[in-house]
Amino acid sequence: MRLVIPEVSVGEWAAQYVLQRVQQFAPTADRPFVLGLPTGSTPLGMYKKLIEFHQLGKLNFQHVVTFNMDEYVGLPEDHPESYHNYMFRHFFNYINIPREQIHILNGNAPDLAVECDRYEEQIRQFGGVDLFIGGVGVDGHIAFNEPGSSLVSRTRVKTLMDSTRFANSRFFENDMENVPKLALTVGVGTVMDANEVMILAQGYAKALAVYHAIEGGINQMWTISALQMHPRAMLVCDDSATSELKVKTVRYFKQMQDHLSLFY
Ligand code: GLP
Repeated sequence: MRLVIPEVSVGEWAAQYVLQRVQQFAPTADRPFVLGLPTGSTPLGMYKKLIEFHQLGKLNFQHVVTFNMDEYVGLPEDHPESYHNYMFRHFFNYINIPREQIHILNGNAPDLAVECDRYEEQIRQFGGVDLFIGGVGVDGHIAFNEPGSSLVSRTRVKTLMDSTRFANSRFFENDMENVPKLALTVGVGTVMDANEVMILAQGYAKALAVYHAIEGGINQMWTISALQMHPRAMLVCDDSATSELKVKTVRYFKQMQDHLSLFY
């Protein structure tokens, strides 16, 4: 696993990375670049910067296909806090991605299990995800894979923990009762199948999750730790998010960064 603690903001670094990856890949209609996308407050800076790159003519989304990580169950798509609404409001409305290339789980599907299987099948049809980007919950969840989720889980319905509903209640008039109890989410296994995974973490509240991701053991109670088994996983953190790591760990990864910058 690679830990990046950039000089610039996490959002800016992540957007630069996406730009570089998409440009290197040079996607075409027959060979699109498949991007896995998160919601939450952490990726907002990245989306802003990606829109900027698009407006400057540096980044073309014509041949980019997206799959979002998760969606609440039972929230209407036009609800301000649905992940559908979030994605269009913060990103898709400002870039040139064709609508049919956007995939977001339908939390109002008549049969949720069928919807989840269909999603997995769609990802397979595109040959898998090239770069899965995610945030991390305070309890170490990636997507909505709450503590105790199988580390080989696939897309499915998940019951949200009270701690997650409490954390997300800030978007629901600070009332936990307004936060849905269920969500559809890609599984840990779905994320692990991606060619590359990039997780973003900002702020002290994420420091324990970052500790478990990097220095703790692989443990289903911290689903982010599964990334230790991924050949190309990367965690992009601000300084505060590294607060629970050993000094020597942080120092080592910073040195690695200096060495890598000699080559890029
Ligand atoms: C939710 C999402 C996660 C996200 C997490 C952290 O639970 N399902 O995908 O990573 O929130 O969000 P934030 O970036 O707002 O801290």
